[in-house]
Amino acid sequence: MAAVPLIFLLLSFFTSIQGEPQYVMQDAALVHYIDRRILSIENRLEKCNKDIAEYVQEFWEFSKKMMSRLEGLNILTAELKNDMDHLLARMERAQRDIDYFESAKESSNTCVEIDEDLLEQQLIEDEESKRKVKVMLNASCNYMLAGIKSLKIVKKAGDTDGSWLKDPGKNYQKIYFLSGTKNKTVLEFANSRVFTESGKTQSTRRLTLPFPWQGTGHAIYNGFLFYHRHGSLNELIKFDIQKRNTTDQMLLLGVDETPAYKLNPSTKIDLAVDELGLWAIHTESDINGKLVITKIDPETMTVEHTWDTSCKSHNAEAAFMMCGALYVSYNSPDGGTSRIECIYDTLEAINPHEVPLLHFPKRQTSHSMMHYNAREKQLFAWDNGSQVIYKFLTKQKT
Ligand SMILES: *[C@@H]1O[C@H](CO)[C@@H](O)[C@H](O)[C@H]1NC(C)=O
Ligand SMILES: *[C@@H]1O[C@H](CO)[C@@H](O)[C@H](O)[C@H]1NC(C)=O
Ligand SMILES: *[C@@H]1O[C@H](CO)[C@@H](O)[C@H](O)[C@H]1NC(C)=O
Ligand SMILES: *[C@@H]1O[C@H](CO)[C@@H](O)[C@H](O)[C@H]1NC(C)=O
Repeated sequence: MAAVPLIFLLLSFFTSIQGEPQYVMQDAALVHYIDRRILSIENRLEKCNKDIAEYVQEFWEFSKKMMSRLEGLNILTAELKNDMDHLLARMERAQRDIDYFESAKESSNTCVEIDEDLLEQQLIEDEESKRKVKVMLNASCNYMLAGIKSLKIVKKAGDTDGSWLKDPGKNYQKIYFLSGTKNKTVLEFANSRVFTESGKTQSTRRLTLPFPWQGTGHAIYNGFLFYHRHGSLNELIKFDIQKRNTTDQMLLLGVDETPAYKLNPSTKIDLAVDELGLWAIHTESDINGKLVITKIDPETMTVEHTWDTSCKSHNAEAAFMMCGALYVSYNSPDGGTSRIECIYDTLEAINPHEVPLLHFPKRQTSHSMMHYNAREKQLFAWDNGSQVIYKFLTKQKT
């Protein structure tokens, strides 16, 4: 009797042993199945991610292309508008001339009298506009350059052409270094000593401009960098050095592809700062290669007045403004001794017949920029890869 339960026990024991692997096998299959599903889902997700990344990349490239095209269109529009303005001004002038000739013809009997009246009126108007300009410039300084006293080579660094600047405004000590005729990187040095002593490894602050510059005609004035934007005909950028962004821009009318100075082909617009403010110097192909200067209001980035000067662009290498007068430095095409041969005074206080010939110290030079610093009373210049300072003598304007 006791055998039956034993057999039963054994039987149930065996069945339980046999049943266990069965369950395990089923579980394994299930796990395997789920694994495969997860794997395939993962694969699909990965592909999906890759597709999205590709779409994003494509879209980004597309939008970049569109942006650059739009930018190009903007420049074109601005240039076209500039040309139109130029043309309109000329047509107006021509129309005025025609009107004048017609009225003169109609009253040919009184022609002489009218002529005299007109002339007189013209003279009065001229005087009036000169007086206005003088008030506008507030002629508070009346000295002129009388001679170059000394030369100091501060450093030899950077490209053959370039520009180094110091803000002539109050309490600015920093030196800005813009090597080359096209770049976006400005190096900033804490002061002149740091600039002189720093080697290549010394840490300097790097400023990256939103757009590269063209030429070497930049200027720094009251914390802003002004420069000609590369790739544009006549766009001037005003860049806030502290906040590191562009705050304003303007188009300088009348500028074409002609370099300001024949010996410096990359500089189409040269900017200058003196006691009276910010100026632009350039030339136009159709005014016999003479320099044109424009007074710019740096706050509003608008033109205040323009002068056609008597100074030639031919053989000119650089120029600067001092006390409302333009001083142009001339040289030989292959380099030589520089000299200032032309002075044009917007305030007409310098007697054009008593302009002295001013020689720079006798040595082989080739200047790519010259800036007058009114606060320090010296000239900053870039001479064939060297940064130099000229000290000078002044005298009262005659
Ligand atoms: C120049 O400006 C000062 C004040 O800023 C004024 O007193 C002076 O009359 C001005 N001079 C001319 C020539 O306008
Ligand atoms: C731009 O200027 C920086 C700093 O002076 C210089 O390291 C870099 O080589 C220049 N780039 C070009 C393209 O000249
Ligand atoms: C200057 O930068 C600030 C923020 O950094 C920005 O809000 C402002 O629009 C920028 N100004 C210009 C003119 O780009
Ligand atoms: C400018 O410097 C280079 C070498 O740095 C020299 O070969 C060249 O003659 C110099 N040019 C002038 C005009 O001094």
